[in-house]
Amino acid sequence: RVKNVVEAADPLSLVGSRVVVKGWARTVRAQKSLGFLEVNDGSSLGGLQCVFEGESLLSSLKEVATGAAVSVSGEIVQGGGKQPVELRASSLDIIGDCEKSYPLQKKRHSLEFLRSIAHLRPRTNTLAAVARVRSTLAQATHDYFRSKGFQYVHSPVITASDTEGAGEMFRVTTLAGNDLSAAAKADDFSDDFFGTSAFLTVSGQLSAEAYACALGDVYTFGPTFRAENSQTSRHLAEFWMIEPEMAFADLGEAMDNAEGLVKSCVSKALAECGADVTFFDKFYGQNGLVDRLEALRDKPFERIKYADAVDLLKAAISKDPDAWQFPDVDFGTDLATEHERWLAESHFDGACVFVYDYPRDIKAFYMRDNDDGRTVAAFDLLAPGVGELVGGSQREERLHKLKSKMDDFQLDPDAYWWYLDLRKYGSVPHAGYGLGFERLVCYVTAQDNIRDAIPFPRAAAGRRR
Ligand code: 4AD
Ligand code: MG
Repeated sequence: RVKNVVEAADPLSLVGSRVVVKGWARTVRAQKSLGFLEVNDGSSLGGLQCVFEGESLLSSLKEVATGAAVSVSGEIVQGGGKQPVELRASSLDIIGDCEKSYPLQKKRHSLEFLRSIAHLRPRTNTLAAVARVRSTLAQATHDYFRSKGFQYVHSPVITASDTEGAGEMFRVTTLAGNDLSAAAKADDFSDDFFGTSAFLTVSGQLSAEAYACALGDVYTFGPTFRAENSQTSRHLAEFWMIEPEMAFADLGEAMDNAEGLVKSCVSKALAECGADVTFFDKFYGQNGLVDRLEALRDKPFERIKYADAVDLLKAAISKDPDAWQFPDVDFGTDLATEHERWLAESHFDGACVFVYDYPRDIKAFYMRDNDDGRTVAAFDLLAPGVGELVGGSQREERLHKLKSKMDDFQLDPDAYWWYLDLRKYGSVPHAGYGLGFERLVCYVTAQDNIRDAIPFPRAAAGRRR
């Protein structure tokens, strides 16, 4: 792979080695007696510079179009330009030619344009680097939980329960006659297959609770779906969520675990994707991305109660009403993105912040009531630039409390019969959280738009805010 040469600790030690490199032509330049071909194979940011000399090699180089798949063999020699080493070609094969209409000719393309060619955009520096960092973060997640003895549980994608109770679900139906065209009528779709309405999951939490109440510490990590109407740069209709669930654990332990996960992921990205992160720092991270990530890795996260955060926000607004274009905030209001960003970016000076003990009325039914009668043991982790990165809670493990809560939230207990069983048969205090994986990817790669943090973004149509 190109990486083994261009990212080698001591590239000069490779001089004299004979290699074959296969990849895609990034740039082709043929002069009179010398030619250059940059081959990128996706293993690293920079491609390998291949040098061509001699009439026959130069004439085959002239056949290579930008974007073509090629194979070059030759010998590693000391570099004549910026790179310490390059490949002196002895043969060149075109494996797959590239038509002239190839949209990724050498120039900078806008991320918006690249979204319209999602199948080709991983051939650009930015999207390839995002893909490598994403892969590393996913691996780091599994390493983290494995090192702590968690079992990886696969929660179902098709489900009957609305975990968040927010009604933002996609329904799954069958279609008679396989008529996938717009002409298919509502009558052609049916729920008969499952004998009940079925939906794409919004969260694996409830299944994870069942397994935590059997195996102890578990996590799920998979795609989740939300029919949210918010056309923002932070919401997708299909996104991946990391959801650990821990038996015999409380809210504090869930926050400790989330802090450990984020730090461990960031630390791995810095260690294993150094070149990519440095690239994002240079081209996207206006305020020193690497410094911010290192600080996040090394410093404890802040923790503040929701009620205290609201007091801080109110004080900031009354001190200087013009400076903060915030929506009004009072105990009981859900924090808006502007509030969250002010806390993390301004008040806590770019730190990650846990806000906990939220008002019970604005949070999900399964969260455990605190003794004050007005808050629940829930937290959000706010990250600078991203806002809410994680949402978690201690779960209500007391059967009578959970039942009366479901009453308050007008949820049908029959639909959650198995969930209530977990409280009847050996109930234990337990806690967990969900981390929005694409938001973590955005954070580490300094990307503003969540559509650039996932290979093939699925989001509501319409104008973006
Ligand atoms: O806060 P949320 O809704 O929490 C849950 O779903 C819980 N059941 C998790 C749990 O306790 N096991 O979502 C968790 C996280 C959010 O903090 C956010 O990072 C991300 O998931 N998220 C989204 N990411 C992208 N697009 C969306 N539409 C998202 N909705 C939530
Ligand atoms: Mg949330």
